[in-house]
Amino acid sequence: MPHPSRRSDVEPFLAMDVLSRANALEAEGARILHMEVGQPGAPAPTPVLAAARAALEGGRIGYTEARGLAGLRQAIAGYYRDTHGLDVPLSRIVATTGSSAGFNLAFLAAFDVGDRVAITAPGYPAYRNILKALGLVPVEIEVGADTRWALTPELLEAAHREGPLKGVLVASPANPTGTMTTPQALKALSDACEALDIRFISDEIYHGLVFDGEQETALSFTNKAIVINSFSKYYCMTGWRIGWMVLPEDLVRPVERIAQSLYISPPELSQRAAAAAFGARDELEAVKAGYARNRALLLERMPTLGFTELLPVDGAFYLYAGIRPFANDSLAFASRMLEEAGIAATPGPDFDPVNGRSYMRFSFAGDHAVIAEAVDRLADWLPRAG
Ligand SMILES: Cc1ncc(COP(=O)(O)O)c(C=O)c1O
Repeated sequence: MPHPSRRSDVEPFLAMDVLSRANALEAEGARILHMEVGQPGAPAPTPVLAAARAALEGGRIGYTEARGLAGLRQAIAGYYRDTHGLDVPLSRIVATTGSSAGFNLAFLAAFDVGDRVAITAPGYPAYRNILKALGLVPVEIEVGADTRWALTPELLEAAHREGPLKGVLVASPANPTGTMTTPQALKALSDACEALDIRFISDEIYHGLVFDGEQETALSFTNKAIVINSFSKYYCMTGWRIGWMVLPEDLVRPVERIAQSLYISPPELSQRAAAAAFGARDELEAVKAGYARNRALLLERMPTLGFTELLPVDGAFYLYAGIRPFANDSLAFASRMLEEAGIAATPGPDFDPVNGRSYMRFSFAGDHAVIAEAVDRLADWLPRAG
């Protein structure tokens, strides 16, 4: 009897399960406040929409080369020049179908079945699931308040001693914690990887969304890292499924060969639209100012509601909050909060199988009015929640 593969037996993404239940409640007439999914409430910026319309007017949307259109890759090179003062050769830039496809391509090009790749817990769940589905071994390294939720060379070296690592993946700003790794700490990690012969992968998808701290690309320290980025978050283009990678020279051709067969090319319409995104800075900064208002509101009100443990929200658009004052199981807490208070947020086990039951992630990428109403509802519901 045929059966589904063992590699497909990955954990479900709880944020999406919460979304499904929230949608079902909405279909029954409930008014749900969405704080579960990490996506901007704003549409793609005006120049992106104009470029997409112009591309559609042109009529023909086809395949492109697997690495992406030269125009988009030039725009990405321009971004590194303008933002970081770096000259990144076009040959090392590859457009991808969202950063999600970037992870698949990077893992396939850099690692073999059975290789151990370190990620942090808490961390973005798809890292673990993609690694597992590809037959790689995710090595989850617990990070906490002692290192301000960042991976350090010492933690990496300890995991490497237990069993040799082939790669490590970090994000700054990170999901779900919102915390940042300082440029010095990022460089120390990159140096440690070079010394230990470990591939360093830097997920820079939340770059641009920094409120407190300094963002630096790993490309400033090394040309050996794999840098992954996307138009989904700062550029408000989740549904366009478009991102990019900057690769070390040795991985360019392997990634290109795999991309040709796995995806043929990223969607041309999205590529042409995304090439205009870097010209939308003012509009995007206005969107970011909205997140900053939401962040300020949450940081002011959540402690008064009894959330005594809030991780530092350096960047991204997430508040990772301890729930111990109210409950000891965030799965049950999230479910009750949704059913009784109409607030959808994501329970911590999505991001951290060990300590996640003590945490919830609240996304504040939505409208200010929604966030403000959610806080008021929490104030009303929490005294009844215990
Ligand atoms: C840290 C991180 N990396 C990558 C992604 C995937 O984004 P996309 O495939 O839309 O570029 C997400 C989405 O939430 C994320 O939080």
